[in-house]
Amino acid sequence: MKPYKIALIPGDGIGPEVVAEGVKVLKAIEEVDKNISFSFTTFPWGCEYYLKYGKMMDEKALDLLKDYDAIYLGAVGYPGVPDHISLRDLLIKIRRGFDQYVNLRPVSLLHPDLTPLKAKSEKDIDMLVIRENSEGEYAGAGEWLFKGNPEEVVLQTGVFSRKGTERIIRYAYEEARKSNRTLTSISKGNALNYSHVFWDQLFEEIGMEYPDVETYSYLVDAASLYFVTQPERFGVVVTSNLFGDIVTDIGAGITGGLGLATGANINPEKSYPSMFEPVHGSAPDIAGKGACNPIAAIWSVSQMLDFFGLEDWGSAVLQVIREVLKDKESLTADLGGRATTEELGEYIIEKLIK
Ligand SMILES: NC(=O)c1ccc[n+]([C@@H]2O[C@H](COP(=O)([O-])OP(=O)(O)OC[C@H]3O[C@@H](n4cnc5c(N)ncnc54)[C@H](O)[C@@H]3O)[C@@H](O)[C@H]2O)c1
Repeated sequence: MKPYKIALIPGDGIGPEVVAEGVKVLKAIEEVDKNISFSFTTFPWGCEYYLKYGKMMDEKALDLLKDYDAIYLGAVGYPGVPDHISLRDLLIKIRRGFDQYVNLRPVSLLHPDLTPLKAKSEKDIDMLVIRENSEGEYAGAGEWLFKGNPEEVVLQTGVFSRKGTERIIRYAYEEARKSNRTLTSISKGNALNYSHVFWDQLFEEIGMEYPDVETYSYLVDAASLYFVTQPERFGVVVTSNLFGDIVTDIGAGITGGLGLATGANINPEKSYPSMFEPVHGSAPDIAGKGACNPIAAIWSVSQMLDFFGLEDWGSAVLQVIREVLKDKESLTADLGGRATTEELGEYIIEKLIK
């Protein structure tokens, strides 16, 4: 049996703590299911590596990673290294280099007690945000003119190619059709008079091929309001890189916080490895204390299993997360409990393989 080859980039802060728990889940699955096998290789990249070697990862990082079936990442970023360096020189390099143009971020309420929204339950908050992940506002294009002078000017250019915009919108239509859900596009065509007018146009154009999919199109400001007041409006959501980043933090806010938010960076063609990671950062305020919540990272494992075609295990992991949130026996401090990261991780495994 060929093992699934997984590259681990635990990264900084709480990254290694949560990745350790996710890896334990995969090892537990391998232990009980003799048809599945995983192999792991850890790469020591991140901010510590940067402080030692002046770079966030090896120059040949993409070459070293390209033959893995998946990359499992904790988080990067730490005081002492500017965030734009840690983000751009590792995360964005991998997302771009491996053309992981789909960022799948489920925003699903796993237990009613977790939402600060009055009178909303699991059936009201259950959406899949599909964020464009390779260009748009995060393309890194721009100019810094007359730096340090009074006439200083900075330009940050959004890049919306037809290929890039079409493929993410098409992916979202396919997903909405497959799951028989509505599709909402979030954009800002009234103010971003080139990029988002183009986005809206392509959303309509491609929609002609999917007459069976019920669609909505909201401006990002109104959509942000609806995320909080009427999340039940949303099924599948498609949006640009920046807006997807922001609205999914609102999504985390209405579903229990960053300790529960996950995201998969997908190269649908499988020409390159896809990358699975919790949405949260390295949380320097709680790092090293064994206090962080590993659920987001374990949910990433569920997404990875789905991606490998092991959907039974993917659903089983998510179901156990739901149960653990319901019985409240072993929760970390962010969820009002007293368990350590490891205790919660072990509790999840216990329930998974019982
Ligand atoms: N994908 C990534 O690697 C990623 C994402 C976001 C931020 N960052 C980086 O992380 C660093 C810290 O950023 P930040 O503070 O804005 O965001 P953060 O997500 O690290 O933390 C925000 C807040 O949420 C809490 N939190 C986050 N994850 C948690 C978990 N699993 N369990 C319990 N509490 C959790 C933290 O304690 C903190 O109070 C920065 O350097 C930033 O650039 C990295």
